[in-house]
Amino acid sequence: MRFFRAVLLTACVAPFLGAQVPQSEYQSRRAALATALPGDGVLLVLGAPEPVENYLNFWQSQNFRYLTGFLEPNAALVIVRRGGSSRAMLFVPPKDPAQEVWTGERLGVDGARAQLGLEGRDAGTLRTVLDSLLSGGGTLYAVGDFSRGGGADVPGQATPRTVHDQFLDAIKGRHRTVKVADVNELVMRLRGRKSTAELGLIRDAAAVSAAAHREAMRAIEPGMNEFEIQAIAEYTFRRNGGDGPSYGSIVGSGSNSTVLHYNRDDRFMRADEVVTMDMAAYYGGYSADITRTVPVGGTFSPAQRDIYSVVLAAQTAAERQIRPGVSSAVLNDSALAVLKTGLARLGLIEAPDATYDCGTAGRAGRCPQYRLYYMHGLGHPIGLDVHDVDAYTSGALAEGSVFTIEPGVYVRANTVDIIPNVAANAALRARIASAVQKYANIGVRIEDDYVVTASGFDRITADVPRDIDAVEREMAQPTGPAPRNAARVESYRRLKP
Ligand code: GLY
Ligand code: MN
Ligand code: MN
Repeated sequence: MRFFRAVLLTACVAPFLGAQVPQSEYQSRRAALATALPGDGVLLVLGAPEPVENYLNFWQSQNFRYLTGFLEPNAALVIVRRGGSSRAMLFVPPKDPAQEVWTGERLGVDGARAQLGLEGRDAGTLRTVLDSLLSGGGTLYAVGDFSRGGGADVPGQATPRTVHDQFLDAIKGRHRTVKVADVNELVMRLRGRKSTAELGLIRDAAAVSAAAHREAMRAIEPGMNEFEIQAIAEYTFRRNGGDGPSYGSIVGSGSNSTVLHYNRDDRFMRADEVVTMDMAAYYGGYSADITRTVPVGGTFSPAQRDIYSVVLAAQTAAERQIRPGVSSAVLNDSALAVLKTGLARLGLIEAPDATYDCGTAGRAGRCPQYRLYYMHGLGHPIGLDVHDVDAYTSGALAEGSVFTIEPGVYVRANTVDIIPNVAANAALRARIASAVQKYANIGVRIEDDYVVTASGFDRITADVPRDIDAVEREMAQPTGPAPRNAARVESYRRLKP
């Protein structure tokens, strides 16, 4: 599998759209947000602060980026809404030749008008301008990276106070009569409907990520380390103008294929194993999200085929349901029905709807048996964040909804040990033991990205082989440095002049 390519494989290269968000669209987003505010007041949108250490990467706050497209630190957008009209100002780090030696050229106050269509102000004056605007009281609407009172990730535990929290605290301290309202939610609502330009960038992200998966598939061979595959993928992202990985690349072989968030990516792979690769790029700030699971030796074993076929059938059952007006619950039900039936057929569960005793000492409980192998959700919207917002999560799919479908089956070698060893589970533990042994260490996830169209959907990651035969054919292709593709170069030259 490791030969250099003799021909340019331009035919397999997905079209690059060269999408970009025009200045007028940022302006419409700001206007829509100003209109959506509950009333008049001052809207403050905080950009991300400069990292505390100069060797750390800067990453702009997503909502600030969405409203301005401005990618320098320590900036803020202020919109004053009064009596049906509004005035916007962008506070930016001023030109400073001595500082620019360290962190690069700044747009500066004058550049804000020319490049972003916004009245520019020196970020050093933000505090005094806000003090003046709020001196008579009123409402301050705030958008920023604020800590959560009790995060979903760590129930009951507040996240640490952020730089943005501290900035607001200081304002509250100085203006005790001003009402402060967090309106991040309003921005998220706007982000929930993607524009044509955004969909173009997401398609570009999908194309860059798809190219990386193909490169990875061609390169994989027994004896390689997982990090070599990660490196090939991330090299391909950048080579094609991607900003970099949009999440920690997951390359898990053997037992690591059954670890959902494995991203140590440091194990030598063996021919008789599968490797699950969940890797995708940001492009122009927008994320794709793709997973493929392939046999390290290039050919699926019968057991690997069994699991792979169940997961693929679940995914295609869900995707067949995609059209405007359908709720994501319908997709979920369709995938689950196929997945449960498949697991029962393989002997990994007793019956599609069978349960087991998963109670604890303090509380009785029953859990579906399929959850032993499929313990995550079916998918999520993508956008600026890899886990973004869309009608997918809360309502019916709409034309332009963009999201993943990513069922999986993960057979841990110790699955039986996950089932509490109580009398009620004895028969189940005995019945599934041999199937668990047969499929041990096979973890399969298949993840594609979809855009809802007027009549159905477009699978925008379809360039990555998915059917068993197509995966095996791709893996048999020669590998080598990917040719530089003129259309791609042209596309990212427009985006990143
Ligand atoms: N790669 C993150 C996810 O699949 O949700
Ligand atoms: Mn995903
Ligand atoms: Mn993923």
